[in-house]
Amino acid sequence: MERVTVITHPLVQHNLTRLRDKRTGPQEFRRVLSEMAALMLYEATRSFETRPVPVTTPLSRARGLKLRREVLLVPVLRAGLGMLDSILQLIPNARVGFIGLKREEKSLRTHFYHESLPPDLRRFEVILIDPMLATGGSAVAAVKLLSERGARRVCLVNLVAAPEGIRHVRAHYPDLPIFTAAVDRKLNHKGFILPGLGDAGDRLFGV
Ligand code: PRP
Repeated sequence: MERVTVITHPLVQHNLTRLRDKRTGPQEFRRVLSEMAALMLYEATRSFETRPVPVTTPLSRARGLKLRREVLLVPVLRAGLGMLDSILQLIPNARVGFIGLKREEKSLRTHFYHESLPPDLRRFEVILIDPMLATGGSAVAAVKLLSERGARRVCLVNLVAAPEGIRHVRAHYPDLPIFTAAVDRKLNHKGFILPGLGDAGDRLFGV
């Protein structure tokens, strides 16, 4: 699929398999999700632009590189929180914004309940993080909000995506880069990804 990068690295796939396993409890789920998020970030940030900077080593001058833009991480609450800490360890100077979205169980419609973002997102590379891309309703709502705030460079990092969700995002944002560890089979009648890994938020927090 266009602009969808499936991260096939063996460590990512190994961890995804542990997350899919229904015997994996909240404690292990949190740890594995966190490890996996960091591994996925390497891929998601590969195309970030850098600028040359001089650096002096203990022996000589050298040419170095710095990220050209500031990074803004935006976990979608709740489940996106499970990916935040390990990503922050990789990009410690990143800023963090939050978007709270809840998908109603019956209608599958999403509604906002929280938002805290810097006022102008134009200068940032924005990484939207959410383990699941199911119908795509949450991702489209989140990207719309980010765009309204001026974001110009946004990418989406999911663990598992449904083809329906990818199509929905594509219909609204044809160029949005999507990184995922798997494109699964389909959604069931309740809007859950099959085979998926269940409800990521519930499995993370045990609620
Ligand atoms: C889940 C998941 C995504 C969303 C995906 O969150 O973490 O945010 O559903 O579904 P969609 O693609 O059909 O919009 P949920 O609304 O269950 O909230 P939670 O993270 O608090 O459990």
